[in-house]
Amino acid sequence: MLSLHDVQKTYEMGETQVHALRGVSLQLLPTQFSVIMGHSGSGKSTLLHVAGCLDVPTAGTVEYKGRDLTTLTSRERADVRSSEIGFVFQKYNLVGNLTALENVGLPLLLRGKSAKYASARARQALDLVGLADRKNHRPSKLSGGEQQRVAIARSLINEPAMILADEPTGNLDTGTGERILDLLRGLADDDKIVLVVTHNPDIAGMADLLVTLRDGRIAAQQSLEVVR
Ligand SMILES: Nc1ncnc2c1ncn2[C@@H]1O[C@H](COP(=O)(O)OP(=O)(O)O)[C@@H](O)[C@H]1O
Ligand SMILES: [Mg+2]
Repeated sequence: MLSLHDVQKTYEMGETQVHALRGVSLQLLPTQFSVIMGHSGSGKSTLLHVAGCLDVPTAGTVEYKGRDLTTLTSRERADVRSSEIGFVFQKYNLVGNLTALENVGLPLLLRGKSAKYASARARQALDLVGLADRKNHRPSKLSGGEQQRVAIARSLINEPAMILADEPTGNLDTGTGERILDLLRGLADDDKIVLVVTHNPDIAGMADLLVTLRDGRIAAQQSLEVVR
């Protein structure tokens, strides 16, 4: 379980302060498909970054496996990120001159694994997102939805316990976006913590936990019974 308690984040902008999070408490469980909605500027990305050790809150705690992640050094946070967390972003952030297979295997190479091992694991991950037959394509030869599936495969390569996705369907048409979200929801069924930020109201119905942020606070939080 990932547990955020009274998390606050204030950005100092010269003379002014921006209160991006004003006391957010949230518990994220494995097997639960958790969704964050809210207007632009309501603090969704900040919350995701704090939950994923990309940023440290100004106050509050983020507990995971009995540790308060906010007390870690930046090096320890980087370790948690690379071993426990997979990120998916709106922009797929794929490397243009690498194939799908190479993009997916890259995190393993960066962790010092052999090219052979990285390639074998990347093949499995691409298979998981239904893209085995596109493994030698470069990103420019893939559709938006396919590129996002490659990015999801890459996020899974270190077998993270947690997947955090920030508007992963923002650049995709509705049908393609729904397939991506279905894929992410499937990861929750696979016992992972899955937290997705989205603007798509149709996703609300797919969520086990739906959190609406407004002005840095939780305006509504619903646990939903989903018939699967
Ligand atoms: N690095 C930053 N420096 C200063 N202000 C920021 C920074 N990141 C976000 N903000 C501000 O914090 C608020 C919340 O931003 P964000 O979490 O990106 O919202 P959302 O993802 O819901 O659009 C906004 O007012 C935004 O302008
Ligand atoms: Mg955002």
